[in-house]
Amino acid sequence: MSKQKLIIFDTTMRDGEQSPGASMTKDEKLRIARALERMRVDVIEAGFPASSNGDFEAVRAIANAVKDSTVCGLCRANDRDIQRGIEALKGAKSWRVHTFIATSPLHMEKKLRMSPEQVLEQAKLAVRFAKNACPDVEFSPEDGSRSELDFLCRVLEAVIKEGATTINIPDTVGYAVPQQFGEFIKNLRQKIPNSDKAVWSVHCHNDLGMAVANSLAAVMIGGARQIECTINGLGERAGNTSLEEVVMAIKTREDFFDMQTGIDATQIVPTSRLVSQITGFVVQPNKAVVGANAFAHASGIHQDGVLKARQTYEIMRAEDVGWSTNKIVLGKLSGRNAFKQRLKELDIELESEDAYNKAFQRFKDLADKKAEIFDEDLRALVAQEAGASQEEHWKLVWMSQASGMGERPHASVVLKDTIERRADAQGDGPVDATFKAIESLAKSGAELLLYSVNAVTTGTESQGEVTVRLARGGRIVNGVGADTDIVVASAKAYISALNRLASKMERVNPQHQL
Ligand code: KIV
Ligand code: ZN
Repeated sequence: MSKQKLIIFDTTMRDGEQSPGASMTKDEKLRIARALERMRVDVIEAGFPASSNGDFEAVRAIANAVKDSTVCGLCRANDRDIQRGIEALKGAKSWRVHTFIATSPLHMEKKLRMSPEQVLEQAKLAVRFAKNACPDVEFSPEDGSRSELDFLCRVLEAVIKEGATTINIPDTVGYAVPQQFGEFIKNLRQKIPNSDKAVWSVHCHNDLGMAVANSLAAVMIGGARQIECTINGLGERAGNTSLEEVVMAIKTREDFFDMQTGIDATQIVPTSRLVSQITGFVVQPNKAVVGANAFAHASGIHQDGVLKARQTYEIMRAEDVGWSTNKIVLGKLSGRNAFKQRLKELDIELESEDAYNKAFQRFKDLADKKAEIFDEDLRALVAQEAGASQEEHWKLVWMSQASGMGERPHASVVLKDTIERRADAQGDGPVDATFKAIESLAKSGAELLLYSVNAVTTGTESQGEVTVRLARGGRIVNGVGADTDIVVASAKAYISALNRLASKMERVNPQHQL
C-alpha cells in the first residue's frame, strides 16, 4: 500500500528572508526558487508581495518561472494585501494565497488592538476575498499555539466554511513542546466539525530548539499533513523548522513515520549551499544533514567501524543528500564548453550568455591562481557572479596590502563609483586596514556586525568565502565574497554589503501592525 504524502511547504524566501541580513534580490530569489523546484518542493512561499515593490516583482517572476511547484504569497488579512498577492501570483501554473491574522489574547489586545469578534470577522472576510480569485487558500492564526482553544475552533471552523483549503497552525514564538503541540492539533481537528475539509499544516519556530520535533509531533499525534520549513532552518530569531531535517527524518525512519515526501533528497546539499552563499548565513559544521561535519568520522573507533560496515555509525548516506566527493573537475586548460557543461551537471543555470561569459572569465582568473577547480569552487564563483549582477554602486578596481611581524599592516584600494578613487589606510591587521581604506572612500558609517571566513574546499589553496554583515539606520545587510586571497575575499564581501546598503531594498515585516 502506498504511503501517505507529507506536503513540504518551503518558506525560505519569506520567513527565512525575515532573518536580519537575509534579504535577497529578485535574481537571487529566482535561483533559489529553481533549486527548490528541482528538489520537488510541493509549495514555495516566494515572499510577501505587499511588503515592497521589489518583493512583489520577485514573487511575480517566480510565479511565471516555476512550473512544477505551487507558488504561494503571504498576505495579511486585508483586501489590499490580498489583492497585491493575487496580482503577483496569478501568472503561475499553480498558486496559493496564504493569509493570516493573530488570534492569541496577547497579540489581539496588544498588537492588533482588536476584539476577538473583530478578528473573527476580519479572518472570514479575508478568506472570502482570497477565495473569489484563487481556489487554493491557506489561513494561519498567528501565535496559534498560544491561542485559546475554543476561540481558535470558532475562527478555524468559520474560515474553512469560507473556503480555506489549508489550515496552518503557527508556533510563532517557538513556545510549544512536542507532545503538547501534537495533542493541540489533534484536539483542534477533533473539535472542529468541518476540519476534514482542509489539509492541516504546522509552522514552527526554533526558539527552544524544538521546531523539527514539534512539527513531527504534529504529524504523528495531530494528523498534520503539511510542514512549513526552510532550508538550513533559516528564519526569524532562532529560525524555522529545517527542511532537510524533516525530510531526512521521514525518509530515514520510514519504519516509524510510515509516510513519504516528494522531495529529491540529492538536491538538499546543493540547495543548502546556494541559500548559504546567497544570504551569507554560514551553516554550522555540526548541523544535521548539511553541516560540513555531518558525515565526517574523526575518531579512530568510528572510522574503523565505518570502514568495516558503514551502517555501524552512519544512518544516512552522504551521497543520498547530495554530498559529492570533492573531485577535481576543471583546470586552467578547460574551455568554455567544459565549463558550461559542468555547470549544467551541477544544475546551475545562468540568466544569459553574457552571464556565462562573465562567469567563465572569473573561472579563468581563478584557474590562473588555483591549479585544481572543484565543484564547490564553481558554486562559489557562480554565487559571486549572481551577486555582481545586483546593482553595483561601488566596484573594487584594485587593491594591495602589506603586513609582517612587527610592522603595522597597510592597505591601498582603488574603488569606482562614478570615477576611480584611491585610499590608503593602516589597521590592526590586513583585513582591518583594507576595510578602513574602503570605508574612507565609501563613508557609509555602517557598523560591522559580523565578519566570518570559511574555506570553500579543503587545503591551503582553497578559496576563502567571507561574509560581512553591516548595520545602518535599522537596516542589516550581508555581503559575501570569495577568492584564494582571503583579504581580497574580505574586500569583495565588504563592498558587496555596501552595495546592498546602497540598494534601498526596503520591506515591511508581515508581522508588524496590520
Ligand atoms: O510565525 C508565524 O506566525 C508566521 C505566520 C505568518 C505564518 O510566519
Ligand atoms: Zn513564522
